[in-house]
Amino acid sequence: MACVMDGNGRWAAQRSLPRTSGHRAAETTVIDVIEAARTAGVEWLSLYAFSTENWSRPSSEVDYLMRLVRGVVRKHAPLLHARGIRCRFLGVSDPRIPRALARDFADVMTLTGDNRGMTLTVAFDHGGRGDIVAAARSLIRAGVAAEAVNERSFAAHLPFPDTPDVDLVIRTSGEQRISNFMLWQVAYAEWVFPTVLWPDFRAPHFLQCLHTYRERDRRFGGVPPERNGDSRS
Ligand code: IPE
Ligand code: IPE
Ligand code: MG
Repeated sequence: MACVMDGNGRWAAQRSLPRTSGHRAAETTVIDVIEAARTAGVEWLSLYAFSTENWSRPSSEVDYLMRLVRGVVRKHAPLLHARGIRCRFLGVSDPRIPRALARDFADVMTLTGDNRGMTLTVAFDHGGRGDIVAAARSLIRAGVAAEAVNERSFAAHLPFPDTPDVDLVIRTSGEQRISNFMLWQVAYAEWVFPTVLWPDFRAPHFLQCLHTYRERDRRFGGVPPERNGDSRS
């Protein structure tokens, strides 16, 4: 499952604070949600932290986010490791990413790489379309014949190809859009849009979203067996 962590700016604006305060307040939610997910038995959790489109924000905000994420990762990596969480960073290809941050991401991936608990993927400098284009390039470079390209072989060239399809995406703050998030993997995801802003989102909200998901009737284009009464087979 995945979270599009949205609403930090509005949370700050409601308090007449600078947008950066909203980002800082998001740290508590991130830790709360990771723990809630782990405790609930979620095996794969992805968090959308910075999109390729977010580079268009004022450079002061972008710089703040780079520093903040580095601080959060350095501070919490030992605890995540102790809890058996395997951390991954999806994205991080733009040369504007500070080298020290990219190094910390790589170090944390190495540190936690053999953990067998929940896999936490932080999508940072991520864009779903960019991943699809990169996969196409990778296929061509590998010399894969056109006839050999199918959904399975294509997906094998996406970053972290072992990541399963996303079943549930939670997007906080009431916004209802994909914003270029893991486009391939969310093809059949259920979406939940709580109106609460990300810095106010806590474990009970998270559990409520899981409950909503469990009540959903997933069909994958088929017909549920109990409604299949007209079939004469
Ligand atoms: C989400 O909060 C955090 C990032 C995109 C980095 P926003 O900063 O988008 O908050 P709003 O949407 O302006 O409230
Ligand atoms: C999506 O949120 C990206 C992240 C949560 C990191 P945005 O706030 O950037 O998305 P838009 O601009 O509302 O589509
Ligand atoms: Mg936003």
